[in-house]
Order: sequence, then structure tokens, then C-alpha cells
Amino acid sequence: MKPVMDNIVASAPGKVILFGEHAVVYGKPALALAIDRRFRCQVSHSEEIYLDGKIFEPNKHPYTYFILSRYWPQRGLDIELDSDIPSGSGLGSSAALCVSLNAALMALRGEEGEGLCAKRSFDAELGVQGSASPLDTSVSTHGHGISINLPNGRHLWDIQHEDRRWSVGHIDVPEMTLVVGYTGVHAPTGPLVAKVRRYYDHSAFAREIIDEIESVTIEGEAAIRAQDMVRLGSLMTQNHKLLSILGVSGRELDRLVDASLMYSYGAKLTGAGGGGSMIALTDRPDDVCEAIKLHGGTPFVVHTEQPGVTVQKKKRL
Ligand code: MEV
Repeated sequence: MKPVMDNIVASAPGKVILFGEHAVVYGKPALALAIDRRFRCQVSHSEEIYLDGKIFEPNKHPYTYFILSRYWPQRGLDIELDSDIPSGSGLGSSAALCVSLNAALMALRGEEGEGLCAKRSFDAELGVQGSASPLDTSVSTHGHGISINLPNGRHLWDIQHEDRRWSVGHIDVPEMTLVVGYTGVHAPTGPLVAKVRRYYDHSAFAREIIDEIESVTIEGEAAIRAQDMVRLGSLMTQNHKLLSILGVSGRELDRLVDASLMYSYGAKLTGAGGGGSMIALTDRPDDVCEAIKLHGGTPFVVHTEQPGVTVQKKKRL
């Protein structure tokens, strides 16, 4: 009889950021929501390391390599990945990869804990990108809505790196319709975060913009609590303008944001920028989708209030 093998399937959501991307890297507040696009990672014991049926090539998969070398050193593993979050789209695909792989390895090792999974996944993003916050990895782990460094969330966990500390909380978010517009421009997070860091380190003006993003985020959280969509949308648009001044928007993103505004409460880029995606808060999703299509983007309506990482353990004969 063949041995019975543990086969683990973990699934983690992508995200949109309502407020605070980039500023959160410097310990400022932020708000993010999990969306109904997910990354799935299936693992089982094996003699060698395989990724999607091929021998694993570490230099092609830096996040996977980082996590395996820390939590599965010198052992074989059969890994299969599958995602409906486009990579470099600003929708959290690298965070969801890290969270689903870490959750799967934790299940194989008999470990538990949302906080531990979020912490390990943040370490991987930080290790690969050189600079990061725990925003994307925390929302992908917990799901629903999360706040960082805001007093009103139900406290989940704290994450620290050097002199920065991020307090992560769960937030309740009213029902709202968000349309994503994907520019089709692949924009990896690392270089954009590094670009903002250079600007931040050398310019008092950049630090002022980061402070303004902080104020907009604090007001945005109050608008969510008040369920004031008009105010919320206008603050999102302000956040987009501040991100443009920081140099992380771009022609394609600005075009999609401008095109959406006629039918939205507000719109902004989401994630690192430089391409990737924007979001619009609207009660006219069909009109926004049409406007985005007309201006060269790929629109889709996202549903929020999504669960965080899930793990299923199966026996494979
Ligand atoms: C990327 O989705 C969000 C950034 O703030 C980077 C980070 O928080 O790690 C740009």
C-alpha cells in the first residue's frame, strides 16, 4: 500500500487599499479591504522541491525561496500555485502568495495562529523588497477590513521592525461598491517603495506629503464610521492627488481615475502605483466599468467582506 501523505491547500485573498499606501511604510495609518480574488497554494511532502511540476528554481521565485529557506530548510516539497490576482496589479498578489504558502507550511508543521502567519509573511515581503509594511500581508491573513495604527479597530496584533511599529486592527466596513480598473501595466512593488524612500529621505516636501496622507487617512476612517460615502469618496480622490505628487501615479492610472470620477464618489490608485490598478467608490458600477474600458483599462467589480486565509488538510493516498 502507498503511504498516506498530507496534502494541504491554503487560499488567501488579494486586497484593495482605501487609504495610506506608501505612508504606512513609515509607520503612518492605513486602511485596506480583502477582495474576492484569491491565491491558492497546495503543498505535499516530496523528495525534492517542485513548483508547478518543475524542479524549483530559487532565483525565479524570490518570495517562495525566502519562505522555504526559513521554514522548510533542506527538505523536499511539492508546491502548486494558482491565482486569480494578476501579478504586479497592485491587488496584493505577492502578499497573498506569502500568506498562502506560510499558512500551508504552518499546517504541515502543526503550527497555528493568524498573527504568526501575518508576521512571517511580512518578513518575506520585507526580505525580498527591502522595505515594506505589514498592510498587505495582514489584510490577506485576516480578510475583511483592517486598519493600521488607528485607534478604532479591534486590536489583532502588533508588528515591529527597527524603530517602526504597526498596530493591526479589524475594522467593520459598510456595504459599498468598488470597481477596480487594471491598467495592464505590470508594476512590481519593490522599486516603487524604494523610489518613495529615496524621495522621503532627501526631501522635507515628501515628508510633508506623507503627513498629509496621514491626515486624509484619519479623516477617511471617520467617514467610514459615519457611513458618509460622499466624504469617503472625496478623501479617496485627495489621497490619489497626494500619491501623484509623491510620483507614484502615472498616465494610465490618472486617465482611469479621471474617467471614473464622473460616475463615482471618488477614485484613487491602489497599492504601490506606477501602473497596476485604481479603485472607484460608486453606486453606478456599470457606468464606471464602461468609462474604464473606454479609456483602455480592464474593469471589474470587487466584493469586500471576504474571509482571510483558509487551510484545508486532505489525506492523499
Ligand atoms: C503596496 O500594496 C503597499 C505599499 O504601501 C507597500 C507596503 O505597504 O508594503 C506601497
